[in-house]
Amino acid sequence: MKKRPVVVVTRRLPDVVETRMRELFDARLNLDDKPLSPEDLAQAVRSADVLVPTVTDEIDASVLAQAGPDLRLIANFGNGVDNIDVQAALSRGITVTNTPGVLTDDTADMTMALVMAVARRIPEGARLIPDDSWGGWSPTFMLGHRITGKRLGIVGMGRIGQALARRARAFGLSIHYHNRRRVPARIEEALEATYWESLDQMLARMDIVSVNCPHTPATYHLLSARRLKLLKPSAIVVNTARGEIIDETALARMLEAGDLAGAGLDVFEHEPAVNPRLVKLAKAGKVVLLPHMGSATREGRIDMGEKVIVNIKTFMDGHRPPDRVLPSML
Ligand code: 8YV
Repeated sequence: MKKRPVVVVTRRLPDVVETRMRELFDARLNLDDKPLSPEDLAQAVRSADVLVPTVTDEIDASVLAQAGPDLRLIANFGNGVDNIDVQAALSRGITVTNTPGVLTDDTADMTMALVMAVARRIPEGARLIPDDSWGGWSPTFMLGHRITGKRLGIVGMGRIGQALARRARAFGLSIHYHNRRRVPARIEEALEATYWESLDQMLARMDIVSVNCPHTPATYHLLSARRLKLLKPSAIVVNTARGEIIDETALARMLEAGDLAGAGLDVFEHEPAVNPRLVKLAKAGKVVLLPHMGSATREGRIDMGEKVIVNIKTFMDGHRPPDRVLPSML
């Protein structure tokens, strides 16, 4: 009988996903969900045929250098692969897959929720009644910013950017975007989206800016201190992609100085650590901070797990897995 592949899964996954993995593979699960230490990760890559990491595992060149001869596939549980040195993996003949598509709507929903939360001060307002500090209605009480008629600038018009644009149009926002490549005309027309070749020029004219591109060497600090200064002081910035895309210290500085109206962040440069200056700003009601939960729905996590399983199964059956990460995507 053919040996079942040893599949090492670094974090707890939904029950149905783990059950299916046990049926199909020699699955080594992490039932207490404690993130693996570098030593544990090294041990995992030495013993596995397939590794299933998540965003909390740093699979860098030094980890990969310890990989055993059997490690042939890294099936990431997640869309972003910036936690993996993909080039180093590929040069060792290890295939890398991810889970695109299944978290698009959930992440776009959360992005829109952050836009609303910041502009309409929802978390600040939601604290008043439980804290017993609501003195009653008044005409000038808890005023936020109107969404309808404002300009939304989407940085990264991939699946999530487009899903955000569809939602934002329903809220009466006009859609603007910057992307490595201009999207096909039929998509632009359907979204009534205006393409800006120059990110700088777009930033200077937007009311709301949303970061929806992957984190790659080219997008690290794409919203640099210089670019953030181009934004209008009334602008709002939201980020549900990766913290590293914004210079977080520069963002905090501008919010403290009142050079930006607010920010909504679901991701951070050094997760799970969060810049204390941002935490202070959140306490003062200037920013809304969420703990990386953009794609956190039960349905989404099960779909992600199913994608991981299909990628492993296809690969192990000797075929090309559907969600291969290619160098051109990096
Ligand atoms: C996931 C994400 O929760 O898929 C991604 O890229 O950022 C998140 O939505 C996480 O990455 C799982 O590894």
